[in-house]
Amino acid sequence: MTKVKIKPATGKLGILTPGLGAVSTTFMAGVFRIRKGLSKPFGSVTQMQTIRLGGRDKSRSPLIRDFVPLADLRDIEFAAWDIFDDNAYEAAVKAGVLDVRDLADVRGEMEKVKPLKAVFDQKFIHNIDGPNKKKGSKWEMAQEVREDIRNFRKAKKLDRMVVVWCGSTEVYIEQHPVHETIESFENGLKNNDEWISPSMIYAYASIMEGVPYANGAPHLTTDIPALDELARQKGVPISGKDFKTGQTLMKTVIAPALKARMLGVRGWFSTNILGNRDGLVLDDPGSFKSKEISKKSALEFIFQPDMYPDLYKDTYHKVRINYYPPKGDDKEGWDNIDIFGWMGYPMQLKVNFLCKDSILAAPIVLDLALFSDLAQRAGMKGIQEWLSFYFKAPMHAPQVHPEHDLFIQHTKLKNTLRHMMGEELITHLGLEYYE
Ligand SMILES: NC(=O)c1ccc[n+]([C@@H]2O[C@H](COP(=O)([O-])OP(=O)(O)OC[C@H]3O[C@@H](n4cnc5c(N)ncnc54)[C@H](O)[C@@H]3O)[C@@H](O)[C@H]2O)c1
Repeated sequence: MTKVKIKPATGKLGILTPGLGAVSTTFMAGVFRIRKGLSKPFGSVTQMQTIRLGGRDKSRSPLIRDFVPLADLRDIEFAAWDIFDDNAYEAAVKAGVLDVRDLADVRGEMEKVKPLKAVFDQKFIHNIDGPNKKKGSKWEMAQEVREDIRNFRKAKKLDRMVVVWCGSTEVYIEQHPVHETIESFENGLKNNDEWISPSMIYAYASIMEGVPYANGAPHLTTDIPALDELARQKGVPISGKDFKTGQTLMKTVIAPALKARMLGVRGWFSTNILGNRDGLVLDDPGSFKSKEISKKSALEFIFQPDMYPDLYKDTYHKVRINYYPPKGDDKEGWDNIDIFGWMGYPMQLKVNFLCKDSILAAPIVLDLALFSDLAQRAGMKGIQEWLSFYFKAPMHAPQVHPEHDLFIQHTKLKNTLRHMMGEELITHLGLEYYE
């Protein structure tokens, strides 16, 4: 196997997040604490996981961060945009995810992250509004975001940058003609086309600046031909959509297990109770629709009802999100799964996941930033399907269906790293041990 040429991770990496809310501040606080040796990077594959190289009789399992050249956490700088003008410390206190005693240790670093003026349009996010916003046409705002990115690069003497969307979920929209080509998109920016959302403006600006873009929310953004083509032309990796954290993580573990054993599913009812700002935005039907579609797509693709009609053709799948302020960021997910086995006899499975949304999302932001940067240094551009592992509705090439099964996604991710480094891919065949 030949090793892919990868530029070294020298110098500093800037991570920019549209959105300075629960997820992004939890992510930043964690990185600051880890750098001081006060916390461990639990949940982060780039920081904690090993990768097996060669046969099981070889005992070669380095840490991923020792195997592939990733940016060091000490070399990371942060910037963010938000419609509210709270700095990262104030925003983290308001988000209420982390204990203020944990934040106190990194207060100085957090206070230095002050939000840049946001591109915002209430047509796309209904339930919130704030004062810290850019003005002007969509084209002018895109140029301003590009300038923000360049200023950040200069001010912090950065070598490379990555943008990870950690802003609220925009309303569901479908692809329109303005999204079809780079030309139609740029004309749309100039004509203030109503179907270009703020997230698309950030994505356009970062791709134009040669900066990888990962979409942590379920809305369309880079999942349109114009930005896909632009990313390929500019040599920029893009990935999305919607961080796979709590309930969908469990779904993409349980559904493959049921299918592997050919157990049928009559119904799957998933409900979520959450009370953070994300929950408030998702209380709006438009934003909920973006989330519902992203949350529902996994089962359909895993079960393949057309191939297994007896087991899954009539599966009734319902997803609910309920805004319930007392819960804060402590989301509660309930799944009731009605299954059937031998001779059609019914059984039930109940999952009650009491999770902390942002605690699950923060390491994903870190891994996506580090892997997107790695991909760019390795010359990979356009959709990064190997990062499907991190997303509820993975972006994929038009001729293939997305891969949702967590274990296939995990194997794909690790094999991509082996491929980059010129190591044998692992097929799990293992016949050689018995020859
Ligand atoms: N936490 C999870 O487990 C998880 C999982 C999957 C996806 N997500 C998504 O991640 C995103 C962030 O979640 P969160 O819990 O941090 O939400 P949050 O509400 O705490 O933070 C989002 C922030 O984005 C800001 N914002 C909204 N529109 C903006 C814009 N156009 N430009 C700049 N800032 C903007 C809001 O003011 C807010 O401060 C949401 O879209 C959420 O759906 C979260």
